[in-house]
Amino acid sequence: MRHAQAEPGSGYDAWLGAPPASGDARRQALDRMAFLHAPEEAAPIRAALAELRAAAIALTGREPRPEPAPEGGRGIVLGTPAGCPEAAAAWDGLPDDPAGESYRLVERGGIVVVAGSGPAGVLYGAFHLRRLLRSGAPLGGLDVAERPANALRMINQWDNADGSVERGYAGRSIFYRDGEFVRDRTRIRDYARLLASAGINALAINNVNVHARETRFIGEEDLPSVAAVADILRGWGIRLYLSVNFAAPVEGGGLDTADPLDEEVRSWWREAADRVYRYVPDFGGFLVKADSEFRPGPFTYGRDHADGANMLADALAPHGGRVVWRCFVYDCRQDWRDRVTDRARAAYDHFMPLDGRFRDNVFLQVKNGPMDFQVREPVSPLIGAMPRTNLLVEFQIAQEYTGQQRHLCYLVPQWKEALDFDTQRKGEGSTVKRIASGELHGRPAGGLAAVSNIGDDANWTGHLLAQANLYGFGRLAWQPELSAEAIAREWAELTLGDRPQAADAVCGMLLRSWSIYESYTAPLGVGWMVKPHHHYGPDVDGYEYSMWGTYHFADRDGIGVDRSSASGTGYAAQYGEPVARLYESPETTPDELLLFFHHVPYTHRLRSGKTVIQHIYDSRFEGAERAQGLLEDWESLRGHVPEPAFSETLERFRHQAEHAREWRDVINTYFRRKSGMPDERGRTIY
Ligand code: GCU
Repeated sequence: MRHAQAEPGSGYDAWLGAPPASGDARRQALDRMAFLHAPEEAAPIRAALAELRAAAIALTGREPRPEPAPEGGRGIVLGTPAGCPEAAAAWDGLPDDPAGESYRLVERGGIVVVAGSGPAGVLYGAFHLRRLLRSGAPLGGLDVAERPANALRMINQWDNADGSVERGYAGRSIFYRDGEFVRDRTRIRDYARLLASAGINALAINNVNVHARETRFIGEEDLPSVAAVADILRGWGIRLYLSVNFAAPVEGGGLDTADPLDEEVRSWWREAADRVYRYVPDFGGFLVKADSEFRPGPFTYGRDHADGANMLADALAPHGGRVVWRCFVYDCRQDWRDRVTDRARAAYDHFMPLDGRFRDNVFLQVKNGPMDFQVREPVSPLIGAMPRTNLLVEFQIAQEYTGQQRHLCYLVPQWKEALDFDTQRKGEGSTVKRIASGELHGRPAGGLAAVSNIGDDANWTGHLLAQANLYGFGRLAWQPELSAEAIAREWAELTLGDRPQAADAVCGMLLRSWSIYESYTAPLGVGWMVKPHHHYGPDVDGYEYSMWGTYHFADRDGIGVDRSSASGTGYAAQYGEPVARLYESPETTPDELLLFFHHVPYTHRLRSGKTVIQHIYDSRFEGAERAQGLLEDWESLRGHVPEPAFSETLERFRHQAEHAREWRDVINTYFRRKSGMPDERGRTIY
């Protein structure tokens, strides 16, 4: 199976494939890779060595010597200051890094030193060097030092033990099959390698919705399998986390309560944590979805989220473990007739008052927006509102609401916008990225988490180009200052190698794709016009009369949700000033978020000068045309992208173009009929 997946052209090797390199890259590698030497034995350093060795062979066709030859010659030395003299010299003067993840690449006297502050740093440095070698960038005089901006760079698998993946669009789980851990762990290893190469250092291996089967993962029977996965991840500098069921003490645990303040419950979790650490000494911790979408939690016992999270934190603390506690908590049994409750308010209302009560090893994981990973949302007002609490900002790489990996939607620009957003909580420059990393509020650690988009499809992500989202998330988590364009280019060049025409075109397609997707789907930040449950395809009223708190309130006169303080739900006031003021009025709210914050007549003029109704029509028509343009751009790459990846992806672009027309016509027709207002340009609306 492994071999079928690794077929050239399938996309299995993703951005670590080895398409033929340019002449420059080959010449340089021949000149500089006579030997490769790493005196230390730690697994990530052996992995780093193996990566560079494979790169050398791919580039030069010859095996580098393991030691410098007595007569000299140019080569590469890898190591940490503790065990490698060249690395110690290279590190001289650089700050300590207890996490061991930073690195310096430096060329001296023909030798390139990959110096890591710890074994993981060596590995990250080796991947960096591999990128340079592949591109043929000159290594003479090389001197770069990098340190990750975020201590925690985490992926959440939404994989279930039965082999399904919640919101998975790329096949089945690579971790489980039919209620058991998979025996052949080749794909887990290959996945860990991809993640490490993008800078990821934490992986929660099961769905946040923990069912009966996964509730037992922390028991004696399953821990050997968990440990086997952790062993693989460790070699790539990645710590394993498990999602746990808050009610585990009751559901199969032999207790009759899961009350976090109950002594028996507390010792139940202490024992569970001790057991996990016996099998996985560097276990990362527990990821918890509690009191959310029918999952159990502390509310059942009249306790709050701090009580719940702290109980688990106390159990994990003696081992250095963490609790990652999700803030996706809202009333999912709302009555659509209730015009007062506003789901967008929920995370802030529940958690903000608890600031200062969480233990130091608790991290609150907050979705980037207040609703749920829509194509456009404002930044969650909770981000920045809890200066005394550790935070992880959560994104969704899986394209649940953004085309399910059948449509192209490169999400890095969306994430960048969120990370660059200035909450102004501590004056100008209080950006989300500085809050997430912990830097703004002087928190010891923080970071980013994201829902994975991979499965057992040969190319991992279904849509070949959706790989760019996985890669991009890792790169952004490492360094949020990277631009969306730089990441797109890096991914395209690594993946499509020496085919500059393809890399250029694909980079442009990626960068346009979010705006294209947004322009044929739900308009102006209102969201949710999808078919219920599976969330694919247009259904304007699909969620309008439901219990999920996701409404657009379109009538014959207007559309949008009034979240102002003056006349609406007061959500806008959850932001600090001056942001709250900006969103309070339709005049100052950015166009793309207008309907998220305000209910306006169709005749309302946007800042762009267009009326809302004309904007809806124009952007749907343009969006569908631009989706057709993506198809044509891809078609023009025939012969420049290997098969079968080219043809498989072509099918997806065909579907997207067709489906974009469906979106266009459903949305336009709905609003044409609702409003009675014609399109100024008289185009066909049904
Ligand atoms: C979304 C998604 C669910 C998921 C939930 C979560 O609502 O549709 O499948 O469980 O988010 O983030 O917990």
